[in-house]
Amino acid sequence: MRRIVPPLAVAVAMLLALGAYGAFGQQGHVIGSKHDLASPGVAACEQCHIPHDAYGDYLWARGPNPAGETYVGVRPLCYSCHDGTVTEEGRYAFDETLSQHPTVPGEPSKDCDMCHNAHTPEYGNFLLFPSGANLCRSCHGKAGPTDHPVDVDAAVAPLDSQWNPSTGDLSGTRLWDAAGAGPGNQVKCLSCHSAHGGLEGSDLSTMPYRDPTSTISPLCQNCHP
Ligand code: HEC
Ligand code: HEC
Ligand code: HEC
Ligand code: HEC
Ligand code: HEC
Ligand code: HEC
Repeated sequence: MRRIVPPLAVAVAMLLALGAYGAFGQQGHVIGSKHDLASPGVAACEQCHIPHDAYGDYLWARGPNPAGETYVGVRPLCYSCHDGTVTEEGRYAFDETLSQHPTVPGEPSKDCDMCHNAHTPEYGNFLLFPSGANLCRSCHGKAGPTDHPVDVDAAVAPLDSQWNPSTGDLSGTRLWDAAGAGPGNQVKCLSCHSAHGGLEGSDLSTMPYRDPTSTISPLCQNCHP
């Protein structure tokens, strides 16, 4: 006798299949990325996930690091490598003496996973957004006719176009390629802003807009001298 499969079960099975396909497709992107730290006998996944005796929500391989942090959310996992033990890169993103974009630790999609997915290197910096250096407008707008133009070419180079917090250089306005994934000649949100290491008391700016000790605006006059 032919079995009748209830439509709901079919729908659920299809959704699960799609979900699994999507998820595996995404996680496979780790391979060959900067997060592929595989060595013979230790697969890339195992650097972050283990099947037993793990920590946290997603079977984290690494527990709270010894810096005395409370174990909440994704950040301790990230910091367990980015604390200088595995890499020095991006340490400033954990420096609470610098302004950092707000997150809600431990709350899915509001933690570091608001902007990053540790599996996807496509848009640079393991960001979730195809707009690269214009990612801010995915959530904030601010790219309309009454805002400073973005995606425009600079006629002259900024006086200070270097910004590299990893070396302690927290000042400068960067120009980007059209995709917003690397250096180029265009103004993007990340020319004036950064999610990490912004100036204290600013809206995550990379140079002071108003300088109480000066009659000039270092940010504006960096490009419009
Ligand atoms: C650099 C660390 C890192 C590596 C390497 C890594 N993951 Fe993940 N994984 C995460 C993080 C962080 C999350 C939590 C989801 C999030 O915050 O985006 C996660 C979540 C997951 C999830 C559940 C949530 C989801 O996205 O579907 C699965 C399944 C998963 N990882 C599988 C894998 C597999 C398979 C590999 C190896 C190919 C791998 N991961 C490699 C960090 C990593
Ligand atoms: C298992 C160790 C490990 C873990 C865990 C880890 N990272 Fe990384 N991450 C690295 C290494 C190694 C690099 C490459 C550093 C280099 O190029 O010198 C890197 C690079 C990066 C970069 C820069 C990528 C680029 O395109 O330049 C970002 C952004 C990043 N990680 C974010 C995260 C976030 C967010 C988490 C937590 C979800 C995380 N990492 C967890 C090891 C790790
Ligand atoms: C609002 C979006 C946003 C949130 C939330 C966010 N990041 Fe980032 N992150 C970025 C962007 C954008 C960059 C690239 C930095 C740049 O070039 O300005 C970055 C860069 C990084 C880097 C690499 C820096 C480098 O120089 O290679 C690390 C590590 C990192 N983030 C970790 C984290 C961790 C950990 C969290 C959670 C505590 C987090 N991020 C939350 C947007 C975000
Ligand atoms: C994934 C969505 C998302 C992205 C991308 C994003 N933000 Fe936010 N941003 C938020 C949310 C949510 C808040 C918190 C709003 C609140 O509760 O006040 C916030 C708050 C802020 C604040 C207020 C901070 C404070 O201390 O009060 C500033 C400034 C800001 N974002 C700037 C940026 C900049 C600059 C970028 C790009 C580097 C960016 N955001 C990218 C979602 C996002
Ligand atoms: C030319 C420099 C510059 C560029 C480019 C720029 N901003 Fe801003 N942004 C600023 C300055 C300066 C402030 C602070 C304004 C103030 O203090 O009155 C600010 C403030 C903000 C704020 C916080 C204040 C608010 O009204 O919510 C957000 C959010 C923001 N910008 C988002 C963006 C987004 C999204 C982009 C890209 C589409 C972008 N910015 C591009 C200079 C810039
Ligand atoms: C990263 C470089 C950069 C910074 C920083 C910058 N600008 Fe611009 N600005 C440009 C470029 C490029 C254009 C478009 C071409 C031009 O007019 O030179 C532009 C255009 C303008 C325009 C003309 C707007 C239009 O719609 O045609 C004004 C006004 C302006 N900027 C003011 C400012 C102010 C105020 C600040 C400081 C908050 C500032 N700029 C910071 C690069 C920058």
